[in-house]
Amino acid sequence: MTRFSRIGFILAAAGSAVGLGNIWKFPYVTGEYGGGAFVIVYLLAILFIGLTIFIAEAVIGQNGQSDVSTSFVNLSKSKNKNWKFAGFMVFTGLIILSFYSVVLGWILNYVFTSFSALPTEAKVAGAAFEKLISNDIGSLLVYHTLIAGSVVYIVLKGIKEGIEKINLILMPLLGLILFGLLIYSLTLDSFSQAVSFMFSADWSKINGDALLAALGQAFFTLSLGVGTILTYSASLSENTNFIKTSISVALVDTSIAIIAGLIIFSFLFEAGAPSAAGPGLVFISLPVIFSGWGVLGQVIAFSFFIALIFAGITSAVSMIEPSLRFFIERFNITRAKATLISGTTFYILGIVALLSMSKSFSTELTFFGKNAFDLMDFMTSSVLMPIAAILTSVFLGYFVDKQTIQDKFTQHVPLAVFNIWYFLIRYIVPLAIVVLLLNKVGIIK
Ligand code: TRP
Repeated sequence: MTRFSRIGFILAAAGSAVGLGNIWKFPYVTGEYGGGAFVIVYLLAILFIGLTIFIAEAVIGQNGQSDVSTSFVNLSKSKNKNWKFAGFMVFTGLIILSFYSVVLGWILNYVFTSFSALPTEAKVAGAAFEKLISNDIGSLLVYHTLIAGSVVYIVLKGIKEGIEKINLILMPLLGLILFGLLIYSLTLDSFSQAVSFMFSADWSKINGDALLAALGQAFFTLSLGVGTILTYSASLSENTNFIKTSISVALVDTSIAIIAGLIIFSFLFEAGAPSAAGPGLVFISLPVIFSGWGVLGQVIAFSFFIALIFAGITSAVSMIEPSLRFFIERFNITRAKATLISGTTFYILGIVALLSMSKSFSTELTFFGKNAFDLMDFMTSSVLMPIAAILTSVFLGYFVDKQTIQDKFTQHVPLAVFNIWYFLIRYIVPLAIVVLLLNKVGIIK
């Protein structure tokens, strides 16, 4: 098995973490929950829960040195074979990838239209977006195929030549574009308004839903609960300081979310657009704003949407990798065969997701009152990922020899750090997620 270099690992894990979650979702969720107070709750969720599970996945991966299921078994007390069922989480990644690829397809559409046909009015922009996702099956199929093809092409080349390399190229480019956009937003009068929106706390909109949204966002943005961090960590050399790398990744991820928020809110406030525009924020509100800025607006639109593509592609490859490693290790097949199986699966599921949003097929593809796209989103983020996160924390807290993990920690950090982490993983994390889970499926409100 080839391995990441230390910096290659940090870039790849950061590439996984930084995605549509940071640039698309974080700003609109923050907007919906009123700004600063939500940001504080989110930061706490990252620090106490997200980072704790991130480190947990890193420990299991780095010491299990295999796919998700084998790593769980290897690390459990007396190598209990039953833990191989933890491997179910690699399929969660494939389901997420299915609809993530479709959303990346929408973005690709905006990359292509940023120089020609940006809408000038909110109504027109809304109608154009609606038409794209509900009518334009042909284009969507082409986009989804382009994205899926790129993902497959990259992962076929392996950890070092595929994943590490693409992150080595795209992550600095992404950083550069965001830096440029940030500088531009600094020149706008509305920048200070964006800062105060994001950093002054108005607690009136913080309710149970907001807390859960923050927690869910913390999981999603750090790529937890599908074995991504675990699988990447299995390709990290055994003596690398996993605490330091985990903190670095969480820091990069959080900084980029905040920067994306500042950029987007500056743009919105400059145009006097509402901050609580929901998921359509980057597809409807932003294009209208860009179109008002003439040629410069076209350049900014293109940079912005291509940045989303870069961020999304490095995340997408990280969603398929756990299943590849799983098939390779457990069924002893080649990377090419594993890629064929996983690639075909998510490609077809993606087509189902895509069709389920169209006018022509929405009736056939609606189950339990949700179309297939929403159902996949709901099942993964509200059911499968939280279950995997509980499993991971309970596993480390109760089914792995304490001394073994403690020794790993104290190679790099003082015992007190381990004690805090162990307390969080045994009690706080499982409890927080159970509450999240029960609330999401509607058992408690
Ligand atoms: N973290 C990515 C984002 O913010 C999405 C992502 C990548 C992900 N890999 C994942 C989410 C694994 C859940 C699980 O967009």
